[in-house]
Amino acid sequence: MAYYSAVIQVCFFLLAYYICLTAGTDLEGRFLQFEKNFVNVKEALEAKVVTLETKVARLEAKVEQQESQIAALILKEREKDQSSSTKKFTMSVELNQNYKRNAIFRTCQELRSSNPLLESGMYWIDPDGQGVGDDAIHVFCDMKSGKTLIGHDSESKIDVGKCAEPGCYSRKINYYATDRQIESLIGLSNNCSQRILINCNNAPLNVGGVEYSWYNTKSKKSDGKQTFSDWLTNCDSSRTQDTGRLVNYQQILNRLNFGGTLKGSLQHTLGKIECEGKAKNEGMPKSCEDLWRMGHTLNGIFAVKGSKSIESLYCDFNRRPNENGFEKRIGYADVKSDPVHFYVQRNSSFNTKYTPIPFHFARVNEGNAMNLTSGEFTAPRPGTYFFSFSGIAEYSHLHKNQVFMYIGLFLNGVVRIGGDFTEEGSSYYHSNKRGPLSFQSTLNLDNGDKVWLQIYASSNDVYLLEDRENHFSHFTGFMLEENIVASL
Ligand SMILES: *[C@@H]1O[C@H](CO)[C@@H](O)[C@H](O)[C@H]1NC(C)=O
Repeated sequence: MAYYSAVIQVCFFLLAYYICLTAGTDLEGRFLQFEKNFVNVKEALEAKVVTLETKVARLEAKVEQQESQIAALILKEREKDQSSSTKKFTMSVELNQNYKRNAIFRTCQELRSSNPLLESGMYWIDPDGQGVGDDAIHVFCDMKSGKTLIGHDSESKIDVGKCAEPGCYSRKINYYATDRQIESLIGLSNNCSQRILINCNNAPLNVGGVEYSWYNTKSKKSDGKQTFSDWLTNCDSSRTQDTGRLVNYQQILNRLNFGGTLKGSLQHTLGKIECEGKAKNEGMPKSCEDLWRMGHTLNGIFAVKGSKSIESLYCDFNRRPNENGFEKRIGYADVKSDPVHFYVQRNSSFNTKYTPIPFHFARVNEGNAMNLTSGEFTAPRPGTYFFSFSGIAEYSHLHKNQVFMYIGLFLNGVVRIGGDFTEEGSSYYHSNKRGPLSFQSTLNLDNGDKVWLQIYASSNDVYLLEDRENHFSHFTGFMLEENIVASL
């Protein structure tokens, strides 16, 4: 057995050797043939790639064309609607027109609040207000979340194609709503956002600090150029898909720009503008914009809370809040507050020091802010108050020494606002010496501030002169102007 297997092995060896020898002679020829074939196949494949690329480009052009046709149709529809009164429409169109004309709700959120049973779908809304500004818009309402979604002509996945330079691909985004309506919706919503998905292969958005890709927003001040880096990572070679959401959405994204796709590829898918919630509008309106957010749409003069008083504004809601003439300040509103005034007198002379001077009766005490017994006036509301005092000091018949009396107006017992005094030198004349006392004061007072009169220095035998018939002392005060805002 061992002998036969050895023979077979030798035979196989010889056979292989023979094949190798004969093959060796035309190996070179075969290789050349193979190389030729390879070149043919390569050329054929390349030709196919070119054909495919052309086809893709054509398809993309078609998609783009169709999208702009859709946009044009929507615009046409809108124009048609404007001249609707002269044309006849079918029942369904008329119904649609009614919905459109009667679009009283400004956001899907409002629509949902009005009827929680509504299903998600297309609805007419009028963010800038019914009857003013632009026509109503047709939007998608997500009734689960109350989101308002505004679409555009570039929502499908779109290939950027081959282009080397930064921003050599540039595409305008046309929304199915006017800028005014979109801006109004943004103003009425708690927050808006827009999602972007980038499929990419070896097409970084930023190379060594140079932005190859960016987007533009509608902005009057700057060119509105914004980089993606805040919300997308760099779409580098290790990454094939990147998705981000443009949040804190204040300005409309209206153009996408890409570049640096020569070695790789990039496709963008831009979502709808999504607006959610209700803009916070706390407390009383302070501006025409606040009024507009609250739902006012009819032009007119309004009272709003100013920094120190109630103010009158003229609001032109045909304009946008950022346009000139939207808000015109007219002046203070004439708001009447509860009156406060007093005029009090005494029946008898008084000479107690360091204590509020009490009074016996009031000619007027509207608002009861003056307490006769304690002599204290308490400001019932913040504002500007006026006080006036006048009286006479009487000295005793005989005084050998110098005599005097100081009277002051005190605020909260701590602050002496001011005073007046009368004084006589020593005298041997047998007659009374008298001196007038008077002062006026205008004060800004807070709620609860106390004001009174007080003798804060006097010699012996000096009186604030008074009798029942003549009434020599007069203390009067009133509120000149209430600080309405501080008391709200
Ligand atoms: C956007 O608004 C909605 C509704 O008010 C709220 O639930 C959500 O948290 C907000 N999102 C952001 C990112 O502020």
